[in-house]
Formats: sequence, structure tokens, C-alpha cells
Amino acid sequence: MNKLLITGGAGFIGSHVVRLFVTKYPHLKVYNLDALTYAGNLENLLDIENQPNYQFLHGDITDEGFLMQVFQEHAFDGVIHLAAESHVDRSISNPGAFVKTNVNGTVNLLNAAMSIWKDDFAGKRFYHVSTDEVYGSLGETGFFTETTAYDPQSPYSASKAASDHFVRAYANTYGFPAVITNCSNNYGPHQFPEKLLPLCIHNIKNNKPLPIYGKGENIRDWLFVEDHARAIDVVFHQGQLTATYNIGGVNEWKNIDIVRLLCDIMDRKLGNVQGTSQELITFVKDRAGHDMRYAIDASKIKNELGWEPSLQFEEGLEKTVDWYLENTDWLQNVTSGAYQAYYQKHYHA
Ligand code: NAD
Ligand code: DAU
Repeated sequence: MNKLLITGGAGFIGSHVVRLFVTKYPHLKVYNLDALTYAGNLENLLDIENQPNYQFLHGDITDEGFLMQVFQEHAFDGVIHLAAESHVDRSISNPGAFVKTNVNGTVNLLNAAMSIWKDDFAGKRFYHVSTDEVYGSLGETGFFTETTAYDPQSPYSASKAASDHFVRAYANTYGFPAVITNCSNNYGPHQFPEKLLPLCIHNIKNNKPLPIYGKGENIRDWLFVEDHARAIDVVFHQGQLTATYNIGGVNEWKNIDIVRLLCDIMDRKLGNVQGTSQELITFVKDRAGHDMRYAIDASKIKNELGWEPSLQFEEGLEKTVDWYLENTDWLQNVTSGAYQAYYQKHYHA
């Protein structure tokens, strides 16, 4: 394989995937196609942007004509598709944007790949990056496996589920060479501060309330973003075509407990008296339709491909906090402008 297209490479997870592939595979030409929405930021890739095997393509996956043109021009052999609207709260206030990018955009990408691959799928691969949220919500026990029935509960997860179904339908109907992974909550450097952990880091720094939805009892399974990027590398190169792999951290936390832990780390790093940041915790109105618990059974990827998380959670969280404290310009840049309007509207702050 010579030419790899990564969509959404200027976003949080995508930028870690681009960096890994550009540095690990110098023979591979990596194209990063991204619309640079509020969540896309080329500052995430400053360290690799001048590498000879990297090229940025500014464009929108909802533009079918543009996609057909770039596939004709560059004749990619592989695609790793991460571009998406990714925030559940935004999907509740504007579901249409999620259908447009996550469903229509994915189908456009499948069609563009089909247009140049259809006569010979040999050596081609389309990797669709999805989420554990397609499986719905768990009670106190049990785990999501690859055969758990889809039961999406939010507009975001419904749009991701629909995109997964289209990828599988193309594999089944046309023999299209696809693989899908469904991953749990990622955390780490470069995550946009609308998501729980970077939002709390930003608010602690600015002595602002930490908004916890409902009672903070909801549970998520957290994975360090570089471990997700490593899993994507493993599945891209060794995963079976048409298969699905679940990826997770085996690391479940109640929201209130993870925020308390984060407060303690922040107090230590900022030289505060322990307990100072916890005073900022504020319980607010719950997210509509809030999924109670996600937990991934990641035994298939471990047993078949030998992947497992490498970092202990506390170590990953320390690394994440250090990154945000050292990269104040990044945080400042992404939280000026449109972020303020979003924050005011969503949190009535
Ligand atoms: P993100 O919101 O940080 O980044 C999304 C990127 O996609 C941005 O760079 C944005 O500019 C780009 N994009 C959005 N709409 C586009 C369009 N129409 N055309 C081209 N580019 C567009 O998202 P993320 O958290 O990095 O998630 C990446 C992928 O991983 C998504 O598909 C998401 O569903 C999936 N995922 C995320 C998590 C998580 O915890 N963040 C977990 C599992 C799966
Ligand atoms: O599980 C994978 C998913 O994880 C990805 O597919 C999504 O793209 C990603 O955004 C993430 O979704 P969540 O909704 O779980 O992440 P978020 O950071 O928005 O919220 C984490 C938990 O914290 C969730 O239970 C809601 C809660 N929360 C969130 C915010 C933003 C709060 O209590 N307060 C907040 O202000």
C-alpha cells in the first residue's frame, strides 16, 4: 500500500493517528482530508506538517463531487475514516448536522472509494472508526461485545450506527474491503474542551464551575488516545476484512469519581491546597437521554491481534494534565471565539 487517506486528521484522535502513520511508515504517503470545523485544528499537527510523506487536503466529506475528484487524482489504496461530528450534546441541539456528516459523508466516502476500487479490491482497505455508543447503554453489569445488538440512544450514536450499517452493507453487497472498530471514551492531549476532561481542566484553571450532569453516577470506560491510535494501526494492518473489533480501556469510572481524581491532580500541579478544585464541582441538569454505562469487552482484539492498553490510567491522566498546562496557547486559541458562544448557550453560563 502506497497512499493512505485519513479523514478527520486535524481532530483529536485523527491527529494522533496521522502522527503515528507519518512517523512510523515513511514509505507511505499520508493524506489528511479535513474540513477544519470548530473541532479541526492544524495546530495539532505542527510537529509533522513538513514531513515529505504528509499532505493536507482541505475539504468536506459531504461534498460528493470533491471526494470523487480527490480519489481520481490521488488513487488512494487505503482509507482510515475518522471525520465526524463527535459531541453528543451538540447532536441533541442539532441532529441534522450529524446526519449530514456522519451518515451522508460516510456514504459519499464509500462511493468515492468504490468508484476507483470496484474493478479490483485486492490490496485495498477501508477502515471505519466508530464508537461503543452504537450499542446503547448498559446496566450495572455486562459488557459490549462485537455481537451486542445495536441500540443507539442519542442522535450522535444513531448517526454513527447508521454509518456502520452502510459500511457493512457495502461489504456484504459489493464485497467492499471494510473493517470497523468501536472504541470507548478517549482522553489525552488535543481533545477539544467541550468534552468532560478537557472542559474540567480548562475550568479548574479559570476557577469556573465544573458542570456534572445529573448525579455524576454515569460510567464511561476511558482509553488513552495514543493507545487507540496504536489499536487502529494494528487493525489496519492485521485485522480481518469485514470484521469488527471492540477497543476499550478496561477502565471504568463514574463521572463524579474521575472528576474528583482530576481535581486532586490539578491541585497538586497548580500548588493549590488539596480540595480547592473539588469545591468547583456543580451538579447541573442531566443530559437528555443520558446513557448510564458503557463498558467494552476488548478480548477479541487482544486474543486475535495482541493489542491491549499500554498506560495505567493515572499515568495517562497526569500526562494529559501536563500537556494542557504546558500548551496554554493551544487552549487559549480553541476557547476564544465560537467556543464562548457554545459554552454560554449550552451551560447558560
Ligand atoms: P473530533 O470532533 O475531535 O474531530 C473530528 C474531525 O473531523 C475534525 O478535525 C473535523 O474538522 C473533522 N470533520 C468534521 N466534519 C467534517 C466533514 N464534514 N468533512 C471533513 N472533515 C470533517 O472527533 P474525535 O473525538 O477525534 O473522533 C474521531 C472519530 O472517532 C469520530 O468518528 C468519532 O465518532 C470516533 N470516536 C471518538 C471517540 C472519543 O472518545 N472521542 C471514541 C470512539 C470513537
Ligand atoms: O464512548 C465513546 C464516545 O465518548 C465517543 O463516541 C464520543 O465522540 C465522545 O464525545 C464520548 O462521548 P461521551 O458523551 O461519553 O463524552 P463526554 O466527554 O461528552 O461526556 C463524558 C461523560 O461526562 C458523560 O456521561 C456526560 C458527562 N458530562 C459531560 C460534559 C461535557 C458531564 O457530566 N458534564 C459535562 O459538562
